[in-house]
Amino acid sequence: MTRPVGVFDSGIGGFSVLRALRAELPHQPFVYVADSGHAPYGERESGHVIERSQAIARHLIQAHDIQALVVACNTATAAAIALLREQHPELPIIGVEPALKPAAQVSRTHRVGVMATRSTLQSAKFQALLATLKDQAEFVLQPCDGLADAIERQDFERALALSRSYTAAMGRFGNDGIDTVVLGCTHYPLIADTLQDLLGPQVTLVDSGAPVARQTRRVLPEPAVTGHPLPHLSTTGHPEPLRAAVDRWLQPQFAIETLRG
Ligand code: DGL
Repeated sequence: MTRPVGVFDSGIGGFSVLRALRAELPHQPFVYVADSGHAPYGERESGHVIERSQAIARHLIQAHDIQALVVACNTATAAAIALLREQHPELPIIGVEPALKPAAQVSRTHRVGVMATRSTLQSAKFQALLATLKDQAEFVLQPCDGLADAIERQDFERALALSRSYTAAMGRFGNDGIDTVVLGCTHYPLIADTLQDLLGPQVTLVDSGAPVARQTRRVLPEPAVTGHPLPHLSTTGHPEPLRAAVDRWLQPQFAIETLRG
């Protein structure tokens, strides 16, 4: 039997990665943990994010015998992936980071907006990535406090109001301004249509779902099963909002387990 791949996020944001993973690896079983009981991560101390990431990794290894782990959260990747790799050297661990390089490559104006959590933008990992690409484009960094939380709660009015004020704060968009925007938090692709409407059709949105899925395929052996297994979904929060998010962004028939902790 093919062992599952574990995937986790602070909540439902990782669905944007899970969708890409299922498209890239249709025969691979996945186990997803939404840490909604401890979300959001993006405006918290990195100690909290590290502690939660370690607890979830341990749970996925012990309860599900995962063969690889996808940290489907930019904030958790920045804070915890080095430590997780150190603690589980036998486990392939794939992280998500804001897609600055692909964005710099597609931008014609060489002005790229980066929307992410405050914690991701302040992290040493992100700053190191930014330093390697400084001469390829001008990056306009926008911390989006509260936006992941609004999406997590499926409060779309608030998500729209925050998106409007954060995109306005980034300056001019289009052929003489920012023509490419990096969605540097896995929650944001879930409202890509809203963001695209605000920014206009000339702005390209870039996220990391597809590259992460391709990287995951590269580290795995071919799965033996030939069916299309449904992912195992679990949450440390309330199952109802997760159910609504599954219906909206994944597929309605998925079952949900509630985790304690
Ligand atoms: N989805 C997460 C990320 O990619 C974190 C959102 C949050 O919990 O603040 O950064």
